[in-house]
Amino acid sequence: MDKFIVMGGNRLNGEITLHAAKNAVLPLLSCCLLCEEEVVLRDCQPLSDVKKMTEIIVRMGGKAYFENDDLHVDCSNAEFMPIDAELTKSIRSSIFMLGSLLGRFGKAEVSYPGGCEIGKRPIDIHIAGLQKLGVKIAETEKYIVCDGKNLHSGIINLSMPSVGATENMIMAAVLTKGSTVINNAAKEPEIIDLQNFINALGGKVKGAGGDTIIVEGVERLHGCKYRPVSDRIAAGTYLTMCAACGGEIVLNNCDIKGLRSVIDVLKSCGCRISEEGDLLRLSSDGKLRNAALLRTGPFPAFPTDMQPQVCALLSVADGVSLIEETVFENRFKYVSQLEIMGADIALDGRRALITGVSRLHANIIEAEDLRGGAALVTAALMADGVSTVYGVEHIDRGYYKIEDELTRLGADIVRVSNKLFQKRKTIA
Ligand code: EPZ
Repeated sequence: MDKFIVMGGNRLNGEITLHAAKNAVLPLLSCCLLCEEEVVLRDCQPLSDVKKMTEIIVRMGGKAYFENDDLHVDCSNAEFMPIDAELTKSIRSSIFMLGSLLGRFGKAEVSYPGGCEIGKRPIDIHIAGLQKLGVKIAETEKYIVCDGKNLHSGIINLSMPSVGATENMIMAAVLTKGSTVINNAAKEPEIIDLQNFINALGGKVKGAGGDTIIVEGVERLHGCKYRPVSDRIAAGTYLTMCAACGGEIVLNNCDIKGLRSVIDVLKSCGCRISEEGDLLRLSSDGKLRNAALLRTGPFPAFPTDMQPQVCALLSVADGVSLIEETVFENRFKYVSQLEIMGADIALDGRRALITGVSRLHANIIEAEDLRGGAALVTAALMADGVSTVYGVEHIDRGYYKIEDELTRLGADIVRVSNKLFQKRKTIA
């Protein structure tokens, strides 16, 4: 497994151009199963999570390949295949294929995705919604077996605005005759993006971004070329890193609406932020104020996917901050690693009380999940001395060659690939 060696203390200055959002591309790839013509997703990066999802499509007999930044997908020859444990373990988002498998093949067999580093990740809301659409669900020890012979339109009231469940319900309804209503829908920008994509394919979806989404079933979808929404979490991560290290960065192709709550928090901590269209400029002297209370929640609340990164930032802010994580039950695993760097953070269930210290000091740390890993890189960039960050494979799931982007901004960070050691061992 690779690791990063980071010499902390450099300010970050320069420009970054954002690309298609991981959390948009993954459901769009699933949605391609509903289309029997070629689709091109523009401006995508070969993130490891995206590559794993394309591997599933290829194993089903479809085509999915990168041509520069364009991701070509053609599911015209895809055939039904159970999504086994090896696949759902390697990419949890494969559970987002339930709806499209049912819409395309009238059935689905998906192994339980199981919990992950940040929580149990149940799928009861997905199952309850599909049952409302007439899907018969048998749960064997290893698989969720869905019989969609009687798949029909209907009214679904989600017990909570689950992003994945909202996406699965939309995809199950796209080719299903009649009008399906999804109440208490998630409002994330990635849901609006899924709606826009389906409509570009000739589908009929409206209301995304609000509480109620309505899907009118159509006979068939046609291909299209589509640029998914920009990655607001990657954008927020770079903003937070610059805020912590000091400096000035400009982000191009920004989904500013999707970042509003993050921008407000960074401004309240003392960053200067200006907006021009989809261009965002942040400057920071690196000396930041605390955030009295930061509560994560479903969009438009502060995104849970930005909680670890901002916690790292607040660990050196002036004063005491309180973070309340309301979405996932186990999203503070990275805190122990910040503490060995000198952070002063008291955990109490889903709350973290952060007392800012003047400086973190370098150490050998390990990432255990994607956004926790981004938090550790943030900490290493501003720490005093040379840190080693293990667990880079988690970070690669959602950031493509983050070390290159940061180097371009003036950071002193290198990736040491484990393959190097293995090669040296064989040579020796
Ligand atoms: C999506 O996950 C994102 N992943 C997550 O990003 C993100 O953190 C999350 O939405 C919340 O915004 C992708 O889009 C690929 P949820 P999802 O269903 O759909 C509970 C990242 O770092 N729940 O909205 O799985 C669940 O346990 C990842 O990029 C049920 O109880 O999130 C959680 O507590 C991490 N039953 C809460 O709802 C269900 O059936 C929100 O989950 C489904 C969810």
